[in-house]
Amino acid sequence: MTMAFWTETLLRDDALHKAPTSTSMTRSMTHALASFRALTSAIERYVYLRQWCREDVKTFYEALASRPRELMPFVYTPTVGEACERYHELPCDVNGVYITANDVGRVGAKLRGYWASERAWLRATEGSSGKGRRNAREISFADERVAIAVVTDGERVLGLGDLGANGMGISEGKVMLYTACAGVRPSQCLPVCLDVGTNNVRLLENPNYKGLRRERLKGAAYDALVDEFMREMRAWQPSCLVQFEDFGNANAFRILEKYRTTGPCFNDDIQGTAAITLAALLSSLRITKGELAKQKILFYGAGEAGVGIGELIAMAMQKTGMSHQQALERCYFMDSKGLVCKSRLGDLQSHKVAFAHDVEFKQDLLSAIEAVRPTALIGVSTIGSAFDEKVVRAMAALNERPIIFPLSNPTSKAECTFEQAMRWTDGKVVFASGSPFDSITRARDGVEVFPAQANNAYVFPALGYAAALTGASQVTDDLFLAAAEALSKLTTDAEIDAGHLFPDMNSIRDVSVALTAEVCEMIVAKGLGSAPRAVSSHAEWLTYIKSHMYNPDSETETLQSKL
Ligand code: NAI
Repeated sequence: MTMAFWTETLLRDDALHKAPTSTSMTRSMTHALASFRALTSAIERYVYLRQWCREDVKTFYEALASRPRELMPFVYTPTVGEACERYHELPCDVNGVYITANDVGRVGAKLRGYWASERAWLRATEGSSGKGRRNAREISFADERVAIAVVTDGERVLGLGDLGANGMGISEGKVMLYTACAGVRPSQCLPVCLDVGTNNVRLLENPNYKGLRRERLKGAAYDALVDEFMREMRAWQPSCLVQFEDFGNANAFRILEKYRTTGPCFNDDIQGTAAITLAALLSSLRITKGELAKQKILFYGAGEAGVGIGELIAMAMQKTGMSHQQALERCYFMDSKGLVCKSRLGDLQSHKVAFAHDVEFKQDLLSAIEAVRPTALIGVSTIGSAFDEKVVRAMAALNERPIIFPLSNPTSKAECTFEQAMRWTDGKVVFASGSPFDSITRARDGVEVFPAQANNAYVFPALGYAAALTGASQVTDDLFLAAAEALSKLTTDAEIDAGHLFPDMNSIRDVSVALTAEVCEMIVAKGLGSAPRAVSSHAEWLTYIKSHMYNPDSETETLQSKL
């Protein structure tokens, strides 16, 4: 089957602009939203949304796509953190496939078997439009295709550590965002959890825990399982984008390096986070009137998120004319032992080595701030409240408008709150967090100020979708750089003035279309993928992408009714 056939038939939705929302759908949506809003706890809302999705895919996605600001926190960060901790006791059907340590030798069969059964159900319930426009051959071809697979092994779920098989909630949540934000059909998304055991004693001792009751697989046996999974995915679905999520950092960097050139894949914790944070930094500089090349960034935390961000910022700085080494030297890191520096070279994990600069070792954050004198402080440490009053005030003493991004998730792990950052900087902070915070009214002038949320959902759905649409052979770092720059430019001056740093989350579909087009064009220009027939200009890409998005409110019939 050719790539052109894949891109031109798989995602076709000819009736996209055709059918108005039906009255019955509106009524049931109104009713469902009212029931959702009546629930008081976040976890109840999570469970409700999961059940809604299971029972009525179309209205669920219509609601999520049209009200992401309201609903997304209950399908993803921060609620998904609690959901993963309690996954084994929640009344939710599993909506993904487990590949376990006992599946060695039959991973391919398990993937295909799951897809055959689950896919039929989803195709029947998500709706399909354009009656009579797709012939049987096209339908059966499309039925075989997975556009996006999100895979985790649950070793580092948000900042909550090893949650084993409960990590499935992360893969399930991310594919929901692919559909809601970028319009990838639910039936083209595959959530996967590699259940390789867990070292979380609390879960192992819990009689309700459903994962393998064994210590985490490691070494060659672990690598062999991941390798079989990737080989089988590539053999079965060569153009499927594989997104790695929430692996422990020792495996995350290795796995990415091993597979990044063998097919379309990326690690959202490393690369997606890098793009959203670079976009936040570029938007912040529109407020501070600073130049990127003059920034000095101190990262609190030197894991997947931090190092990924540092590398992408360095890449962006290089574009301003500095060398790679000069750019790396604008980024400093602290890990659990203190400042990453040359004197520690002997005992540093390899991903930190490029950032070990010639600077005196400092053990605590305040001393490091005094030594480095950063313009921006980025928290990716999983240590809640690490940015205390002294730290935040030290940043404010050094900078007229200090840039402070406490990115650790969920909310309990945030290095500081929005309210604290505002209070301790007299409202001068330029702020973005990983989990959402409420707006506050500024004491001095009564103006309502909003915190920005560096939500990866602005980037990964568009990027992954672009890779799938173009049949990209690989996903390179410069695609993330392009997405970050484009995202920052999409933020209006009015939004920047109100402190948002990103476009309104409720316009995420438009944002995703713009970013997808940007990335598709770049993939084609780099020769990594191909454009569909008759698509070459930016305007043609925009039209093509819009017309191929899954649009639940215009999906008026089910595939079942067509067959
Ligand atoms: P990781 O486990 O790879 O890295 C954590 C790092 O924090 C390690 O370098 C560790 O040494 C360091 N650390 C631990 N204790 C410390 C201490 N006391 N002082 C200084 N450093 C310390 O985790 P990863 O993937 O980098 O994620 C970190 C956090 O960032 C998580 O909470 C995650 O949820 C959050 N995150 C936020 C995103 C966003 O806002 N869009 C996206 C991705 C991750």
